[in-house]
Amino acid sequence: MKAAHQKMVKRQIKIIGIGLGSPGHLTGHAIEALRQVDVFLVADKGDIKKEMVAARKAVCEAFLKPGSYRFVTISDTDRGPDAKRGTTEYRKGVQAWRQSRVNRFVNAIKELPPNMIVGFLAWGDPAFYDSLIGIVEEIGEIIPLDIRVIPGISAIQALAAENAICLNRVAAPIHITTGRRLPREWSPELGTVVVMLDKGLACAQLLARAPDLEIIWGAYIGFPWQIIRRGRLADMVQELIPLRERLRQEHGWVMDTYILRGPEMTDDAPPLEI
Ligand SMILES: C[S@@+](CC[C@H](N)C(=O)[O-])C[C@H]1O[C@@H](n2cnc3c(N)ncnc32)[C@H](O)[C@@H]1O
Repeated sequence: MKAAHQKMVKRQIKIIGIGLGSPGHLTGHAIEALRQVDVFLVADKGDIKKEMVAARKAVCEAFLKPGSYRFVTISDTDRGPDAKRGTTEYRKGVQAWRQSRVNRFVNAIKELPPNMIVGFLAWGDPAFYDSLIGIVEEIGEIIPLDIRVIPGISAIQALAAENAICLNRVAAPIHITTGRRLPREWSPELGTVVVMLDKGLACAQLLARAPDLEIIWGAYIGFPWQIIRRGRLADMVQELIPLRERLRQEHGWVMDTYILRGPEMTDDAPPLEI
């Protein structure tokens, strides 16, 4: 007797890393995967992130024939004011938002014929601070799925490349974290620190401890209006705080990533003082 699940066809799902909105960021494998997809499901976060939905649409238009695919936007629920929440409240908020997104995607997928290949377009690379893989796994608990992930260029790589730097100092570590965690986590032993998801330049809280760190900051990386700034932390912070606020007001949103690092260690260079 064949078990019911053996007969059940798994729906093919592709999670495709698209880089940061520039069609030039897509790898050959990502383009190949795009061409296999019948329906793209894209979460629409409303007016504020419309440029990011537009960037995803532009990626499809750059590589696919009109009429060869469908682009379906699914409206998202508002996650609320993350920055004002404590860690427990923040986690609860993320969980509720995520469950609602899973339910909306499940409903959309159930409407599609089972042989249709569904694509999710992950911003940057889906391995870095991205909920898509986890969300698709949760969808897979409801609908059997065959999940493939195609990597993309992350904000981390793009920022390093724009500045022509290798992230780690010789044989030293790289630490990737969030703005929320940075002030209590930072120490020179972390090596180069990459900060994402920072709603308000948390690096300003390191000024008293480490004014001589180098900051390499990039906003809207990959977009035609990308902005990069680089210098000594103590000199840059006063420029970056109003600049970031002005950009947020102009665009309605800002996404920035920054790198903090001390000097290269050599036999005669003293370790960074704190
Ligand atoms: C939800 S995470 C997604 C990261 C993404 N998966 C990646 O690989 O870059 C969003 C954070 O990524 C960074 N980010 C994404 N796009 C960016 C961009 N175009 N310029 C600068 N930082 C960006 C910001 O730190 C932002 O807060």
